[in-house]
Parts: sequence; structure tokens; C-alpha cells
Amino acid sequence: MFAWLKDKRTIRRIGRWFGWISLALVLVTMLTGYGITQFRIVTSLTAGFLGKAVSQRWHESLGLLVLAALALHVGIALWWRWKGARD
Ligand code: HEM
Repeated sequence: MFAWLKDKRTIRRIGRWFGWISLALVLVTMLTGYGITQFRIVTSLTAGFLGKAVSQRWHESLGLLVLAALALHVGIALWWRWKGARD
């Protein structure tokens, strides 16, 4: 079922993807953080989409996702450097 995972390059590619996902999540975390403290600016910049309450909810939910994405990114990147690239 997971035969495609046996290719180490595929795992490396997934690790890189988690790097981009981490970057996006970190940026959204920062934006929603500003959406709480600087809500007037962020609400108008996002045409009312990211109001204070929505920002607060998203900001609180994003923590675990950022941690999970970063853990996968760093875990796979380090695995590749130490082990994956060998053969
Ligand atoms: C918020 C923190 C981080 C973000 C947003 C991030 C983002 C990225 C992105 C987007 C790439 C992919 C580049 C590509 O497609 O070529 C990348 C590659 C890489 N990152 Fe991160 N990274 C973060 C933290 C870290 C940390 C803490 C480590 C190591 C301790 C790390 C190690 C690496 C390595 C080794 C690569 C190269 C992977 C490869 O060539 O296979 N990154 N990172």
C-alpha cells in the first residue's frame, strides 16, 4: 500500500513540502496574531475576512499544526542528511 514511500527521494520531497507548509502556517500565525492585537489594520487589509474573533480562533488552532508540520519537516530533513542520502 505504501510502496511509493520506499523511494527515499519521495520522502525527501514530502519533507520539503512540509517546509513550504510550515512557512505558510507560520505566516498565517503571524498575520492572525496581528489580527488580535492590531485588529483594525488586519480587518481592513483582509476586507473584513480576518476580524478579531476569527483571528483569535485561528491563532489558537494553528499552534499544534505548526508544530506538527515543523516536526515532520525538520525530522525528514535531518534524516535525509544523516541517513537518506547515503544510498
Ligand atoms: C519555520 C521554520 C522553517 C521553515 C518555514 C522552513 C522552510 C523550508 C523550506 C520551504 C524548504 C524547502 C526548500 C526547497 O523546496 O528546496 C526547506 C528546506 C530545508 N530545511 Fe527548512 N524550514 C524551517 C526550519 C528548519 C529547521 C529548524 C531545520 C533543521 C534543523 C531545517 C532544515 C532544512 C533542510 C536540511 C532543508 C533542505 C532539505 C532537502 O534539501 O531535502 N528547516 N525548509
